[in-house]
Amino acid sequence: MIYTIPAFQKNTMKKIQRLEMKDISKSFHGIPANQDINLLIESGEILGLLGENGAGKTTLMNILYGLYQPDAGSIKINDKIVRINNPVESIHQGIGMVHQHFMLVQNHSVIENIALGYKDTPFLFPKAKIKKKVEDFSKRFDFKIDISKKIWQLSAGEQQRVEIIKALLNGADILILDEPTSVLTPQEIKELISILREMKAQGHMIIFISHKLNEIIEICDRVLVLQKGKIVGGGDTKDTDKKSLARMMVGRDVVFNIDKKTIKKGEKVLCVENINVMGDKGLPCVKNISFKLFKNEIFGIAGVSGNGQRELAEAITGIRPTESGKVLINGNDITNKSPRMIYDNGVSHVPEERIRFGIAPGLFLYDNAVLKQHHLKKFSRNYFLKYSRIKNHTTHIINEFKISTHSINNQTRNLSGGNIQKLILGREVSETPQLLIASHPTYGLDVGATEFLRNYLLELRKEGSCVLLFSEDIEEIFELCDRIAVIFDGQFMAVLDSDDEQLCDIGLMMAGSKKIQVNEKKYD
Ligand SMILES: Nc1ncnc2c1ncn2[C@@H]1O[C@H](COP(=O)(O)OP(=O)(O)OP(=O)(O)O)[C@@H](O)[C@H]1O
Ligand SMILES: [Mg+2]
Repeated sequence: MIYTIPAFQKNTMKKIQRLEMKDISKSFHGIPANQDINLLIESGEILGLLGENGAGKTTLMNILYGLYQPDAGSIKINDKIVRINNPVESIHQGIGMVHQHFMLVQNHSVIENIALGYKDTPFLFPKAKIKKKVEDFSKRFDFKIDISKKIWQLSAGEQQRVEIIKALLNGADILILDEPTSVLTPQEIKELISILREMKAQGHMIIFISHKLNEIIEICDRVLVLQKGKIVGGGDTKDTDKKSLARMMVGRDVVFNIDKKTIKKGEKVLCVENINVMGDKGLPCVKNISFKLFKNEIFGIAGVSGNGQRELAEAITGIRPTESGKVLINGNDITNKSPRMIYDNGVSHVPEERIRFGIAPGLFLYDNAVLKQHHLKKFSRNYFLKYSRIKNHTTHIINEFKISTHSINNQTRNLSGGNIQKLILGREVSETPQLLIASHPTYGLDVGATEFLRNYLLELRKEGSCVLLFSEDIEEIFELCDRIAVIFDGQFMAVLDSDDEQLCDIGLMMAGSKKIQVNEKKYD
């Protein structure tokens, strides 16, 4: 949907000094997503919004942004009640939103995307004028971005900066950021934090949604905690800590350090031999990588996103061609075989960009719960799907992964972001894969669901599966993995056991400044 808005406003006096949402309620199909919510934010404040997956955070912000109308309650700007009927009016009022899943047009350039929504665009596209404005803003907030590129060529962090610039150029005094850090690299997160601090200093207001409690405490002045659509707590972040926020959110204590027992590894499952893979831009992205993976093992690949992780996972799962080298599962050569055939060899995949590649949003939950599995005997016979079996299977996943939905006859796009993730994870592990390839499996999950998933991966390991885990979260890698490879520029900088002392230099290896010769023989 493209909205038109007035010409970019000069950033002078802030239009909003204070915004209040009062007694906001909203239900879907009779089930409350928001109940009597009160929220206040004032000039120069960063407010954190916290809550479990499906707690109602995005719904509340969609109301503020005019995407939904509340069933009850009001919005006050500078003590005057306003009605926000749609995002155009919200932008007029000075509210901008960067959504949980970016809304940019992938094959348009940065400038073109920013210009979308620019009212009174003359017959000739005012490229120079918009470019100048973008450059001014980039300088003011110290944005690093190549504006001549197409969106698909940008990293997640760069795409996010495009969304932020777009909102700021539209005159946003309040910026809503819905889980802005879940897809960013640690470096990009640092850059985002300094941008937000600068915005705060200039009097902007920011509503910041995140599942990362450390971040909320670091960035926000105040926090509000939602549980099942209601506010259950909040206060100044300086008076709180991670544990008490987690307890408020989930209603019980959350264990942050899980207990991993040592298990003897079993037979070899995966063997990757000297593979080379090209990236989207036609350049080598995986360079001569070799490793083996054994039963009862979690093998972690740590690295800053964009160093070949995605291409490596896609090559193993058959989504992307392997230029040279071999991939073997239980001794069977699966190099460049179809994704279906690789799946039938016991390989499951939780992709990085799950919403784009992991589900069909317009289909029902039960359709998505058997995507890739519908051909299995238990779900179909002679071209006919066995719907009652499929629905039972879906209900089982919903219960096990605590997916919050009113029904399995719900379109998957209506689930909250984290619940979509849980559905994909549930599907991918439901057939107890021999090898699970999981890219950032806890992205977007709340603390309780993260704890559950980590224990689930350890359970898979205990039962004899193996997991290839891609993550930038060093804590997660250390907690779960038996061996750790560090990837940089498409190459392994090291492959180490989880108790290796040299792992203290993992940061240096991730940055490419230290390499430890990989001794392949050690793992045969
Ligand atoms: N358009 C819709 N139709 C039906 N139900 C909806 C719709 N939008 C949201 N919901 C439901 O409202 C509830 C709250 O969802 P919301 O997206 O606000 O959660 P959230 O707190 O943002 O969760 P997450 O952390 O997973 O992003 C969920 O149960 C969701 O399924
Ligand atoms: Mg959400």
